[in-house]
Amino acid sequence: MPKRVQSKKRAPAAKRTAKKTLKSKAVKSTKKIRARKPTVDQKPPVQELTEVSEAQIAVHWKEEETFMPSEKLKAQANMNDPKVFERFKQENFPNCFKEYADMLDWFEPYQQVLDTSNAPFWKWFTGGKLNVSYNCVDRHLAKYGKKPAIIFVAEPETEADWVLTYEDLYKRVNEVAALLRSLGLKKGDRVTFHLPMTPELPITMLACARLGVIHSQVFAGFSGQACGSRVHDSGSRFLVTMDAYWRNGSLIDHKANADLAVQTSEELGQKVDKVLVWQRYPGKYSGKTPMVEGRDVFMNDLLKPFDGKTVEPEKMDSEDPLFLMYTSGTTGKPKGIQHRTGGYLAYVTATSKWVQDIHPDDVYWCLADIGWITGHSYIVYGPLAVAATSVIFEGVPTYPDAARPWRVSERLGVNIFHTAPTSIRMLRKLGPELPRKYKHHFKCMTTVGEPIEPEAWRWYYHEVGRGEAAITDTWWQTETGGFLCSTLPALMKMKPGSAGPGMPGIFPVILDENGNEVPAGSNKAGNLCIRNPWPGEMQTIWGDPDRYVRTYYARYNKKPKSTDWRDWPYLAGDGALQAADGYIRVLGRIDDVINVAGHRLGTKEIESACLAVPEVAEAAVVPVVDEMKGRVPEVYVALKPGIQASDAIINSIIKANEEYIGKIARPKHVYIVPDMPKTRSGKIMRRVLASISNRLDVGDVTTLANPTVVEEIRVMVQGKDVKVSKEAIPEDIAKFGEQNA
Ligand code: WTA
Repeated sequence: MPKRVQSKKRAPAAKRTAKKTLKSKAVKSTKKIRARKPTVDQKPPVQELTEVSEAQIAVHWKEEETFMPSEKLKAQANMNDPKVFERFKQENFPNCFKEYADMLDWFEPYQQVLDTSNAPFWKWFTGGKLNVSYNCVDRHLAKYGKKPAIIFVAEPETEADWVLTYEDLYKRVNEVAALLRSLGLKKGDRVTFHLPMTPELPITMLACARLGVIHSQVFAGFSGQACGSRVHDSGSRFLVTMDAYWRNGSLIDHKANADLAVQTSEELGQKVDKVLVWQRYPGKYSGKTPMVEGRDVFMNDLLKPFDGKTVEPEKMDSEDPLFLMYTSGTTGKPKGIQHRTGGYLAYVTATSKWVQDIHPDDVYWCLADIGWITGHSYIVYGPLAVAATSVIFEGVPTYPDAARPWRVSERLGVNIFHTAPTSIRMLRKLGPELPRKYKHHFKCMTTVGEPIEPEAWRWYYHEVGRGEAAITDTWWQTETGGFLCSTLPALMKMKPGSAGPGMPGIFPVILDENGNEVPAGSNKAGNLCIRNPWPGEMQTIWGDPDRYVRTYYARYNKKPKSTDWRDWPYLAGDGALQAADGYIRVLGRIDDVINVAGHRLGTKEIESACLAVPEVAEAAVVPVVDEMKGRVPEVYVALKPGIQASDAIINSIIKANEEYIGKIARPKHVYIVPDMPKTRSGKIMRRVLASISNRLDVGDVTTLANPTVVEEIRVMVQGKDVKVSKEAIPEDIAKFGEQNA
């Protein structure tokens, strides 16, 4: 029985940046690779050791003190009725979700709440007809037409805000819809966006939704190639982009990425007819690459004849797809997560109302990028469906300094704030005292995307929220559409480091390897699953329904023909444990996905990028703990016979990752090793490499085909005399690579 240890803290990360480390690693040959010296703080805190089974890793993390929401918050909250959990108890599933559907305007009522006849392809609110753009815009005009819907804050502080009222938004969405329709786009077509964080993105999303066109927004920070492969997979004939945008003080030339995207997509077999280019500064081209005659057109020019035009919102079936959002999985090919119209909108509307407590007179700011699911659900669709004023911020929160979020919040009167642990850590590190200098007041604050350390949570609570704001730690995924585990802010205690229990109508369960339930309060971790379907859940993976079943349902389903939802627990892909009070503590991914600063990257995608470098024979990517970003990838490569290691090869590998995926995939270190540690059957032991990168015991390697190389690599990475730690193993790191071993 192997020994596993869990600790309350993550192992601290090496302090050097990737850039510095690279410089220090002048590589001339495999023999001469310089080892990194560990820093003093790499010694993790001493923790209790326990012997446990593979399936149930005991977790020792003391229960945190809890915090209660204020009376002031409770008095005004959208959801302050404790009976809600009675209404949404399991016996009332699925009809309890009628309450969510009732928050929308339907052109035609639905016939059935949940249709399970083609399990696990669930159908929600079947027979109902509605339109998302109508629900997010038109229906607010009478009461909130003059109220800001979107406030755009540009990164340069000298630039004035762009405020769009619901009337302005209505006008723009209609004009863009009219234009897209004139280009021949219709219900069911796909359009890929590679748009940055400006109001043109939600405007174009809503215009597509008005016509029933399925949009697929690719995060603007992804490379042109990454965008191109998504254009191809979705079968889009149109790419919508912007010429340039500001990020971290630079005006980035973005149109160049569109050229690469089109080239990549066409190489893969998908022709792109038109590239529609928004101008960051209307009337002026801020890109550097020339517009391609006949293919590239400026949106601002095309829009001229459509001034004031309106388009009837298409009556969409509740089950018609609304959008695709690509996310990483265990293979090199990203999955096009397909979301539906009715169930999705109902779910994000209700959760925006109940969890984020958004009222029409609140000013809400979510710092995520609309290129990720958080932005789709909780900058655009959810908040606009509840008539919020939603702030869209172009840049990075630490530019020009770490007080920017507090300055903007004070100036705009933001009272609901939403961000990820990685930003919280960064803002805390760069300016722990800065929030005190500003007069912002938040009533609610959300965190999402990664586990948050209790220490960072407390800073967020006391310094940013001044002890007045209720924090909701929301656990969910691209696939889930909206929050699944979270507290309801006015009704429940907050517990630092834990997402809440299941949301109303969501029944989480922790299952062990054999499908047995790990009881709440047992202090044992297992696989986080959801017992039941829910309206916000994805419909399928675009073009790959088998992968949908395989990835999320095959693991625990024992009756593949069953149409009873009870036979289909949803496998989230996260390790977690449940406290006696039902609160969920997420430990991290259990698959080959690395959560970098809250963004999912597949190790296989990174490995494929490395293999594109001609000198590379083999590549293995592992997650390493990082103080700020949570996890970052580290790369191990073996070169083809006769090729000498060099800085140039390392640089090509880094460049390949930036080109194929984007800057977020930049590895922390690249190690050129003499050989990969392998099993006798020739499989690379990624688990051993992950242990070396994270300074953990590599365990018994004597059964490997080439055991001596492990020590060679260890010395290369850690230096000769380093004692590896036997403690502090976050579960995702501890279990990393087991599947491949
Ligand atoms: C992680 C982001 C801990 C988790 C909305 C999940 C979290 C992955 C939390 C999904 C949280 C998300 N606490 N971990 N509150 N929220 N995660 O698809 O590993 O980009 O599986 O969706 O982020 O990432 P995705």
